[in-house]
Amino acid sequence: MAIILAIETSCDETAVAIVNNRQVLSSIVSSQIELHKTYGGVVPELASRQHLEIINPCISQAMEEAGLNWQDIDAIAATCTPGLVGALLVGMAAAKTLAMIYNKPFLGVHHLEGHIYASYLAQPELKPPFLCLLVSGGHTSSIYVKDYGKYELLGSTRDDAAGEAFDKVARLLNLGYPGGPIIDRLAQSGNSKAFPLPEGRISLPDGRGYHPYDFSFSGIKTAVLRLTEKLEAEGEIPVADVAASFQHTVAKVLAKRSVKCALDNGLDTITIGGGVAANSGLRKYLTEAAQKHNLKVYFPPLKFCTDNAAMIACAAAQHFNLGHRSQLDLEVRSRMRIDKVLELYQ
Ligand code: KG4
Ligand code: ZN
Repeated sequence: MAIILAIETSCDETAVAIVNNRQVLSSIVSSQIELHKTYGGVVPELASRQHLEIINPCISQAMEEAGLNWQDIDAIAATCTPGLVGALLVGMAAAKTLAMIYNKPFLGVHHLEGHIYASYLAQPELKPPFLCLLVSGGHTSSIYVKDYGKYELLGSTRDDAAGEAFDKVARLLNLGYPGGPIIDRLAQSGNSKAFPLPEGRISLPDGRGYHPYDFSFSGIKTAVLRLTEKLEAEGEIPVADVAASFQHTVAKVLAKRSVKCALDNGLDTITIGGGVAANSGLRKYLTEAAQKHNLKVYFPPLKFCTDNAAMIACAAAQHFNLGHRSQLDLEVRSRMRIDKVLELYQ
């Protein structure tokens, strides 16, 4: 048993949660979407200041909702990488201070490992090995979960993340921010076959074909830009058809490459994490493709897919139980490879 309080401030959500291993005792998420909406994306400086303003109330609320006192907490954790450095610093400084004041062990957590742990929260019986497809606004990765804390990155995007592509396409269609949910909704009434778009493939050196698991979304985004320019010149843009065609292409590529990745690596389970896991096209294609190949697919509830601190606390609980601890001088890092997470601990 490990009761962990964790803080997540890597991007535009200020989140604090308390878990007992895989059981969530409280989970507070304060989104900054309204703050950044006017700018069409996250403004790092504003994000840090907003984290600073509300972190303490979020901590108090998490303690209150869990009905715990500080002596009940076994360790304090915070996301230390990857993310916006100024934003990460706020959560890390708060967590280290609490660890010092209350004399508790401290653990830094890799944000992407947190996203993987969202599936453990939702499926308490889930065990490695499995493949995690992580599709958020900042990341698109296929991660081979070999064991607790042991990961191999099998595929990733070479340019835009999947969610970022949704946001950029929504922006060029003047639909608003964040774009994913808006495109998803519009796509329901559009014709997904109206406009064929490129799948975005990464060439292997020496003409040896294409990388089987990597992604590229900038080409699709540029193709949508050219398409809308052409359609606009011809008359009105059939926005729903463009949205449906774009979503169809991205969702199909994500589903196809992750199923291939799981099969090639002898894995029978795929889990999904990140905001794009909400996408109805991705859910449909991945579920269909998995059924065809006898694979299990787990989509955690959206509250655990998008950024939250419960997933960070759950990852920290596993490390805590394995005897892992971080030093109080652990620094924040804007990037870190997922296969290096054990370097965060002694
Ligand atoms: O995981 P997340 O909340 O934050 C990051 O860590 O980035 O993901 C946010 C991303 C945004 O790009 C948003 O447009 C996208 O997830 N998203 C969606 C959907 N809901 C959210 N993308 C496609 N379809 C959706 N239904
Ligand atoms: Zn995230």
